[in-house]
Amino acid sequence: MKTSSKTKPPSDLRLQVFLAQAGVASRRKAEGLIQEGRVAVDGQVVTQMGSKVDPDRQRVTVDGRPVEIAPETVYYLFHKPRKVLSTLHDPRGRPALKDYLDRAGIRERVFPVGRLDWDAEGLILMTNDGPLAQVLQHPRFQVPKTYRVKVEGLPTLQALNRLKTGLPLPGGKEHRADVERIKTGTDRTWLLITVWEGEKHQVKKMCAAVGHPVLTIKRVALGPLELGRLPQGEFRPLTAREIAALRKLAPPHLFP
Ligand code: URA
Repeated sequence: MKTSSKTKPPSDLRLQVFLAQAGVASRRKAEGLIQEGRVAVDGQVVTQMGSKVDPDRQRVTVDGRPVEIAPETVYYLFHKPRKVLSTLHDPRGRPALKDYLDRAGIRERVFPVGRLDWDAEGLILMTNDGPLAQVLQHPRFQVPKTYRVKVEGLPTLQALNRLKTGLPLPGGKEHRADVERIKTGTDRTWLLITVWEGEKHQVKKMCAAVGHPVLTIKRVALGPLELGRLPQGEFRPLTAREIAALRKLAPPHLFP
């Protein structure tokens, strides 16, 4: 159950095919490198065309430099339940993401992109794609994060407008949000709140600053990704379309 952007080669590849897949050279040029005696497998120079290599077990070098095929990139969407840490492990033994990865049989070394509070639930993207993760987390790229939030009380239009126009938070920076009221109870209100920075406790701090502390918070979207009906505690691989949409958020030189 995974979507990958690169195809992992089967073991036992012809050497020139392996070199081409690793991006060293075209297959024809790789044959040239082999004939010139510049390629070694486990320290032995190989000049015989058609020699096989098992990239999982053998070490290939060109001009003495190791050649590797990057691990395939994988992307999962996870619905974090409340009372689960959004880190892989917890030294204090509280439930954390690795418990769920193991339960789902996901063996790739994925890590979470961004964080959610212990008492928050919702969408967490998990991937081994470092460059994309950096883009998604960097405030410069202003990736929207949307939360369904239950707050205490009945915020006035004025309070909601303060969230929309921006308010300074502890630390000095001003933050603004898109806000939509979705439901009103007798002494509770449900809001859809979008922010762009992803600072620690940002939504809770903003709501508290206008006098309406957060009671529950659930991330329902991250950029083009939506949580939808994914059950709590479960993963699903991103679709190719979702991966392409995420990559569009990055500067073109990263994902040409
Ligand atoms: N804002 C918060 O206050 N908490 C979260 O977990 C995410 C955003």
